[in-house]
Amino acid sequence: MNRYIIAVTGASGAIYAKKLFDYLKGKAELHVIVSERGAELMRLELSTGSSYFSGENVVLHKNSKINASIASGSFKTGGMVIVPASMGTLGRIVSGVSTSLIERVADVMLKEKRKLIVVPREAPLSSIHLKNLLTLDQAGALILPASPGFYNNPQTIDDLADIVVARILDQLDIEQELIPPYHPKN
Ligand SMILES: Cc1cc2nc3c(=O)[nH]c(=O)nc-3n(C[C@H](O)[C@H](O)[C@H](O)COP(=O)(O)O)c2cc1C
Repeated sequence: MNRYIIAVTGASGAIYAKKLFDYLKGKAELHVIVSERGAELMRLELSTGSSYFSGENVVLHKNSKINASIASGSFKTGGMVIVPASMGTLGRIVSGVSTSLIERVADVMLKEKRKLIVVPREAPLSSIHLKNLLTLDQAGALILPASPGFYNNPQTIDDLADIVVARILDQLDIEQELIPPYHPKN
């Protein structure tokens, strides 16, 4: 069973983290870290907190516990997804300060040249945000904006969220049935 790390931070879009977790639960070992603000946004947007991330083969880590097993380069995973990713967390990862478990694990993924998928959500973006996104890309992360396409004719909020989650699963090389492959109509 492969294992993945999901980090939830205080940007809008907690639904993406919930749907990614729901899809992977039971299929993989999941290590979840939720920032304080991430939990606040979950309560605001989903009426649930970080305790949502529970179950068999699920470990919920404290963001303050920087010496957790997953903070070591020896802990091998199929990748880390920061979803949604706040500009605050992004800026701290770029600065390399590693003051929380999320920042430390992201730092490890970059230094070990492992898969780090960052799903930012902010609008508009300042030049600071844009520079930080570019720096992360250049350091080896994959930037996957929380920006669903509309060509599959989504009807509901769930449909829209599925489009972003499908792109994340594609990047993790996980087969997904959420969204069919694109076929031109003509
Ligand atoms: C209601 C609300 C919505 C927010 N939405 C966003 C957002 O979409 N993107 C973002 O980068 N920051 C957003 N923020 C700001 C972050 O929560 C803030 O920068 C926080 O310090 C991030 O902390 P974290 O990165 O440790 O989770 C929002 C804050 C609040 C209170």
